[in-house]
Amino acid sequence: MTRVAIVGYGFMGKTHCAAWRKCKGAKVVAVCDVNLAQLRATSKGNVPGVDQTSTLGPDVRVWQNVAEMLAAGGLDVVDITLPTPLHEEVVLQALAAGCHVLCEKPMALSLKACDRMLAAAEKAQRVFLVAQCVRFFPAYLKLAEIVRSGVYGQVIAADFARFMSIPAWSPKGACWLLDEAKSGGLYVDAHVHDSDFIASLWGLPARVTSRAAVDARGFTVHTSTTYDYGDNRIITSDCSYAASDALCFDASAKVFLEKATIYLGGKGETPLCVYPQGKKPFAPKLPAASGYEAEIAYFHDLVRGRRPKRELLTARDARRALQLVLAERKSAQTKRPVRLVGSGRFAV
Ligand SMILES: NC(=O)c1ccc[n+]([C@@H]2O[C@H](COP(=O)([O-])OP(=O)(O)OC[C@H]3O[C@@H](n4cnc5c(N)ncnc54)[C@H](O)[C@@H]3O)[C@@H](O)[C@H]2O)c1
Repeated sequence: MTRVAIVGYGFMGKTHCAAWRKCKGAKVVAVCDVNLAQLRATSKGNVPGVDQTSTLGPDVRVWQNVAEMLAAGGLDVVDITLPTPLHEEVVLQALAAGCHVLCEKPMALSLKACDRMLAAAEKAQRVFLVAQCVRFFPAYLKLAEIVRSGVYGQVIAADFARFMSIPAWSPKGACWLLDEAKSGGLYVDAHVHDSDFIASLWGLPARVTSRAAVDARGFTVHTSTTYDYGDNRIITSDCSYAASDALCFDASAKVFLEKATIYLGGKGETPLCVYPQGKKPFAPKLPAASGYEAEIAYFHDLVRGRRPKRELLTARDARRALQLVLAERKSAQTKRPVRLVGSGRFAV
C-alpha cells in the first residue's frame, strides 16, 4: 500500500485527496496544513464538480509542520498542494526524506528554482512530477491523441481559451493568488495550463507575442498570446480573470487541421466534437475517470515502477511550461515579441 501525505489542505489539497481515494493501492495516511480550520472547511475554487468536502477519517494523521511530519517517517509519497512560493522548499524537504513527490503546478516562480527541484529529484532517485492536470483531462487527452495521430493532417491553426472570475478563495481574506509576487499572476498561475498543452503538442515556439489587460491595481486580468513556430501555423491563446461570476469558469479549444476541425469545451457544448471534412461530426468517447483521478493514477503507476503506455508528462515539461509563460509575460511587459532560447533564457 502506498502511504500518501497531502501538504496544504485547501482547494487543491481536497481535490487531490478525493482523487487519491479512488486510486487503488494507495491511501492518504497524513495531511499537513498550518491552518487546522482548513481540515474541516469546505474549500472554494473555480473548477466545478470536484469534491471539496473530503472529511478525514480518524486513521489520517494530522500535522501542522512539514518537517515534523517527514521526521516521523512512514510515508512513500508527499503530494504538495501548497501556495506556489512554498513548492520548492517542501519538494526539496520531501525528496531529501526519501519520498516520491507530486507537486501542484506551476512548478515554481523561477526557472532556477525548477532546476534545483529537478536536480534534487535526480539526486534522490525518486519520482517527481508536477501536476499539469490539463494533460489528463479526458477531452484534452483525446484532443492531443487525435492531433498527434495525424489522421486529419497537419494543424493549420489552433486557439485555446481559459476564462475565470478573479480567484479569491484562499482563506483569511489575504488571498495569496491575488498577490502576483506569490502566485506569478495570470500568466504563471492560470495560463500555464494552455501554454503547457500547446508546448506538449508542438514544442516551444520560436517566438511569442503577448498582450495583457491590467486593472487599476496593476493586476493582470486578461492576456492574449500568439505563438510563432516560424511557419504558417497560427497558434493563439487567451486567458482571463475578467470573466463574470455568472460565467465562473470556462476552458475551450478550437483546432483546425487539414481534414477536420475540432471543438473542445465551451459552455453548454459537448466536451469534444470532431467535424471531419465531408463527414458527419462525432463526439469521441471519453474515459469516465476525472482528469485529477487520471493524473494521480499515472503518478502512482510511476511510483510503483510501472511504465506508462505512453509518457504523458515529465517534471521537465513543467519547467518548459514556466519558461514559456515567463516569455509571454515578458512580451506583455515590454510590448515586444520575445524569442525563446532552448537554454531557458530568453531574449527580446
Ligand atoms: N491544477 C489545478 O487545477 C489548480 C487549481 C487551483 C490551484 N492550483 C495550484 O495548487 C496550489 C494550491 O492552490 P490552492 O488553490 O489549493 O490554494 P489554497 O490557498 O486553497 O490552499 C493552500 C493551503 O495550504 C495551506 N498552507 C499554507 N502554508 C502552509 C505551510 N507552510 N504548511 C502547510 N500548509 C500550508 C493553507 O492553509 C491552505 O489550506 C497552487 O500552486 C495553485 O497554483 C492548481
